[in-house]
Amino acid sequence: MKMKIVKTIDEVRAQVKEWRKQGLTVGLVPTMGYLHEGHASLIEASHRDNDRTVVSDFVNPIQFGPTEDLESYPRDLERDAKVVEEHGGDLIFNPEPSEMYHQGFTSFVDMTVLTQELCGLSRPVHFRGVCTVVSKLFNIVKPDRAYFGKKDAQQLAVIRHMVDDLNMDIEIIGCPIVREADGLAKSSRNTYLNADERKAALVLSQAIFKGMDMVRSGEKDCAVILDAMKAHINAEPLAKIDYVKMVDCATMQQITALDRPALCAMAVYIGKTRLIDNFFTEDV
Ligand code: PAF
Repeated sequence: MKMKIVKTIDEVRAQVKEWRKQGLTVGLVPTMGYLHEGHASLIEASHRDNDRTVVSDFVNPIQFGPTEDLESYPRDLERDAKVVEEHGGDLIFNPEPSEMYHQGFTSFVDMTVLTQELCGLSRPVHFRGVCTVVSKLFNIVKPDRAYFGKKDAQQLAVIRHMVDDLNMDIEIIGCPIVREADGLAKSSRNTYLNADERKAALVLSQAIFKGMDMVRSGEKDCAVILDAMKAHINAEPLAKIDYVKMVDCATMQQITALDRPALCAMAVYIGKTRLIDNFFTEDV
């Protein structure tokens, strides 16, 4: 079928209803647009697993704090449409903010666990915004499966937990981080980096690979691993660490020894751009 772009909730519902009548399964790839190979891998995974794939393309205002990059976040629907079509997506849902948040909108999905550490600490309203918009997208599309990248590891854990807590009948699929040839994790925010910052940004993935090597060679002391990673990042003058932490995969609480499955996650400013990266010890 020819890929379609729709702007309203009614149009999405009508299309999905039509597919359901035909007995087709539906996958959802929630995005904020400016799609890169990371998103493409999610669309491909959904295309493999489902008969039809919906890609939401919406820069969600309520997950940005007042001093964050909502206004400057890159947007290019025409470019996104090509990526979606090339990788097997069937429908783009690209609503205006007023379509998602009508006047008087006051209901939010919040989470009291998993959001107290890592990005939740530095971005206090972020996960409430993510949980709210993802719940709305789940209610609008009613997919069988939804696809999220492991680069946003805490987001993936939060969404899995929300789906479990609220009995949402949707399978959540986490897909591996996609990297540039030199290691930098793909991100729409990489477009903010100038040439010097782009080079400097490599300290994130280099520190990640250093941490993975240490875990592989049997180091169990989190402080030893984190200190080595931080030292590598701090040697780059353009880099400023927000956090580099080792947390329990299930609780997102900090741990001191690698005696359980853990997530090593970081957020680092390169100039004004905040980038994230991570590894799961189970994937090492
Ligand atoms: O990961 C993202 O791009 C966003 O947080 C999401 C899940 C699309 C919600 O706006």
